[in-house]
Amino acid sequence: MNSLPSDLQALLRQYGQTHLIQFWDDLNSEERANLAAQLIALDFALVESVTRSLNAPDSSNAGSEAVQAARIAAAKAPAKVVRQPQSTKDLAARSAAAEIGEAELRSGKVAVVTVAGGQGTRLGFDAPKGMFPIGPVSQRTLFQIFAEQIQSRRQQASAEIPWFIMTSDATHSETKRFFEDQNYFGMVPESVVLFQQGSLPAFDASTGQILLNSRSEIALSPDGHGGLIAALQKAGLLERMKNAGIEHVFYHQVDNPTVIIADPVLIGFHTQQKSQLTTNVVCKTSPTEKMGVLVDVNGRTEIIEYSELTPEQAAQTDESGQWIFWAGNTAIHVFDRAFLENLAHEGGQLPLHFARKNVPFVSSEGQMVSPEDASNPNAIKMERFIFDALPMAQSTLIVEGNRAREFNPVKNKSGADSADTARAALVRIGREWLAESGHVIPDHMAVEISPLQALTAAELRKKIGSGELQVSDLISS
Ligand code: UD1
Repeated sequence: MNSLPSDLQALLRQYGQTHLIQFWDDLNSEERANLAAQLIALDFALVESVTRSLNAPDSSNAGSEAVQAARIAAAKAPAKVVRQPQSTKDLAARSAAAEIGEAELRSGKVAVVTVAGGQGTRLGFDAPKGMFPIGPVSQRTLFQIFAEQIQSRRQQASAEIPWFIMTSDATHSETKRFFEDQNYFGMVPESVVLFQQGSLPAFDASTGQILLNSRSEIALSPDGHGGLIAALQKAGLLERMKNAGIEHVFYHQVDNPTVIIADPVLIGFHTQQKSQLTTNVVCKTSPTEKMGVLVDVNGRTEIIEYSELTPEQAAQTDESGQWIFWAGNTAIHVFDRAFLENLAHEGGQLPLHFARKNVPFVSSEGQMVSPEDASNPNAIKMERFIFDALPMAQSTLIVEGNRAREFNPVKNKSGADSADTARAALVRIGREWLAESGHVIPDHMAVEISPLQALTAAELRKKIGSGELQVSDLISS
């Protein structure tokens, strides 16, 4: 392509973005074609709304201060939560839910979605996070643990449980190659679907101009896990789920190796209470822990993100002295498939959240600039959050999970929520399960149980009891 279509040039002029083609004459034909494709894909309505909100920061974007302050002031601890069992009655209710969930799994009504499009900057791992080796003995990757869980569940349910993995521009090709190299961990390749989320441009925070990543490339980043609905729709996957008889979509993040994938209890409560969107929560360990919190705002369930609360707000208590913001979002949800479809038909676009970040860019002189001043980041990046679907649901449900068992994410290089804490959790869970089978393992020995060996302590006990599994195969000195 030698020249840009004139209507595109006119749009760039209209929205003050002609700097994006200032290096056009220096580009070769491949670079021109790439840049033109990016410009054609630009959402100019979005460009306009960003520019508008930069000029009037208190307008209607989801991150605007006035909107946030009103939400936080109105927020109450969620009124209706299925708490962790305290009595035999509660335990019976969980067992009943598990039976319902298992029946749904056997009927082939459940699909799994793993969101794996994030850039994992905090962990400092150079590949997609799902490729991170987390098995304390085996170095199994996060993806392998999930694959093995899904395989076991499929086997137990004697049914299909299709697995959809959302990647982004940043993670797609490496993730795809990894699954191919690993032969899809023994799964039928057609039962594992990788699909790509969209991306959004980064804007200069002072001028509202879109940043260039190189002379021929706009600075783009993944559009947040809230891009899921549009991405599923675009890839025809909502239709595919419907045709396959899927009714419930189990959603989880790539960073938590102890998530109970397609958890029958969560699916059971979700089905029993006809919820459109069910969320698993755990009690935050401290008010400032980096977890979003489930709250009721004017009768609707919502999540307030940790970055939206000051430490003082996060520590607020109610009349009974309980934290208002206690119910930490584990990012484990069950969606009603038809609800996702409704959202997709309504455009599939959840609100935008704006964040000030440092983004390297090419200056008007053609120089690469890497801003480092953390107190005054140069750019605005935008993301959509999947949990903004919560207040759009007619019926929601919150179920408290067992934190030690289900929530041990890998987020940071060291300290809390790191590979060390997640590995320690996998070992601890293995020891607890073996102890329940009557085998106390000495401290110096590490334990790792593959989901292919057992998904629960009860299954492990049964397999050890029948001689199907040897304890010596599960431990290493
Ligand atoms: C997230 C939740 C927080 C929750 C916590 C639990 C958000 C905004 N907040 O925080 O409420 O308490 O997890 O662990 O999500 N991802 C994509 N595409 C993207 C961006 C992210 O697929 O464009 C995926 C990542 O791969 C990851 C997940 O979303 O699986 C979470 O992303 P991350 O930004 O790390 O969330 P947290 O800040 O840890």
